[in-house]
Amino acid sequence: MATSADRFMHRPNAIDRLGKTVVYVGELLRHPVYTRFLHWMVGIFFFLALLSGFGIYLPWIFRFFTPLFGGGAMTRLLHPWFGLGFVFFFALQAINWWQAMTWTPADTRWMKTIKDYITRSDSMESAETGFFNAGQKMMFWEIVCGSIAYVITGVMMWFPTTFGRIWVSIAYVIHDISALIMLFGIFFHIYLSTFGEPGTIQAMTRGTVSEAWAWTHHPRWYKEVTGRDPQQALTEARQRMEQQDRTA
Ligand code: HEM
Repeated sequence: MATSADRFMHRPNAIDRLGKTVVYVGELLRHPVYTRFLHWMVGIFFFLALLSGFGIYLPWIFRFFTPLFGGGAMTRLLHPWFGLGFVFFFALQAINWWQAMTWTPADTRWMKTIKDYITRSDSMESAETGFFNAGQKMMFWEIVCGSIAYVITGVMMWFPTTFGRIWVSIAYVIHDISALIMLFGIFFHIYLSTFGEPGTIQAMTRGTVSEAWAWTHHPRWYKEVTGRDPQQALTEARQRMEQQDRTA
């Protein structure tokens, strides 16, 4: 059976070959071109659906969004297509990440120590943390469930006469609650990917991360791809820094 390390060793497909990922010394390949392409398509369609959705949902507050899409009627027409674009690209990403996102007993243990993660009381994540940590997996599965809810409720709202008033009213409530839950998760996701954990954003821009980032946040993945002990890598890096401080 392939491990998450095998899965993310570079096996280029046609889209990977359209782009280029340069991995410098001291870095590791994190996300190849195909994964990055899907991620940013998901991101673009998510925000198009979100902005057009807010324009329709709360037009008296977000009336400045509708002109961006050509007016109220056009926004209403485009929103379901933006939503379908989001679900389509996320479905491809879900297939791409399915194995790496599978929940394991180590993830259940990670959840029990989530307080340490939030308070940053350890200099490195638990040694069992592989390619994705349990928090990332939870967000992924929330998006899978949310996407299924969007498609079912969205189709009901798109063709209201087919489903009847009661079902369409229920669909509105579920659709809007799903959107708010996902927006809340994405807010944390963007914070952690940028300011919260410096060095993460380049995983989705250049496709690489530093080795130090890898042993800090995903020690088991670091060990799988390099064959080196993450704890020892950290100790050696600290010794090198102390030596540099002494000679400076
Ligand atoms: C400006 C907005 C965004 C930024 C800066 C961003 C950044 C990132 C980065 C750097 C990663 C790689 C993390 C890693 O390799 O450990 C990632 C992963 C991911 N992104 Fe985004 N992202 C954004 C928007 C979105 C949106 C809108 C969605 C979906 C609605 C999304 C879904 C995901 C998922 C499911 C993952 C994998 C799990 C995780 O790392 O949390 N992202 N993102």
